[in-house]
Amino acid sequence: MYKSIQLDYGMGDLGGFLDEKTLDIHFNSLYKGYLNRLNKVLTDNHYDFRYTKEELLEHINEFPIKDRDAILYNLGGVLNHERYFLGLSPSPSLKENAFIEKLKEKYGSIDNFKKEFMEKALIVIGSGYTNLVMDRNGGFNIINTSNQELPDFYGFYPLISLDLWEHAYFLKYYQNKQDYINNFFNYINYEAINTVYEEKTKKL
Ligand SMILES: [Fe+2]
Repeated sequence: MYKSIQLDYGMGDLGGFLDEKTLDIHFNSLYKGYLNRLNKVLTDNHYDFRYTKEELLEHINEFPIKDRDAILYNLGGVLNHERYFLGLSPSPSLKENAFIEKLKEKYGSIDNFKKEFMEKALIVIGSGYTNLVMDRNGGFNIINTSNQELPDFYGFYPLISLDLWEHAYFLKYYQNKQDYINNFFNYINYEAINTVYEEKTKKL
C-alpha cells in the first residue's frame, strides 16, 4: 500500500496562512481519501506496489483500461496534494539556493515571480492548481491544471503547486482567493523545493 507523507509541521502550525480546521480536513480527510481510493483500486488489481507513486504514472498501461481513469484521478489527487503540503513551511527561509537563483534568473526577481504566479492563479476556472513547473530542458514556466490533472501529463515536473480548490481556503478566506494566494507566498518552503529541484536537475 502507498503510505501517507509525513509533515514536519502540525495542523495548527500554519496559523497565519491556514487555520487548523482547514488543514486538518484537507490533509487528514481529503488527501488521505485520495490515497485510500488509490490503494483500493490498485489492490483490487492485485498490484504489488513495485513502483513509486511517480513511476506508477509511467506504467499506467499495465492496468485494465476500465480502471485507468480511477487510478489517474486518485493518483493525481495524491501527488498534487503531496507537492502542495510538502511545499509549505511555518518558517520558510529565503536563504540563497540554486532554485531561488534560477527563479530570479527567469523572472528577474522573487517579487516579479509572485506577480506572474498571481496573475496565472487568478484565472484558474473552477477547481485546479497553479504550478511552477520545470520542463525537460530545465526551463521554468507557470501553468494551471484542472481538477486533479498532473503537470506530469504534459511533460512538466512541478516544483511549486498551489491548491486552488475552494476546500483549500474557503473557511478562512471565503471568496478572497487573492488574499489566500498572497499569504501562500509567505509560507513557501524554498529549502524543500530546492532539494527536489537539485535532484530533478541531476536527471536532465
Ligand atoms: Fe485539495
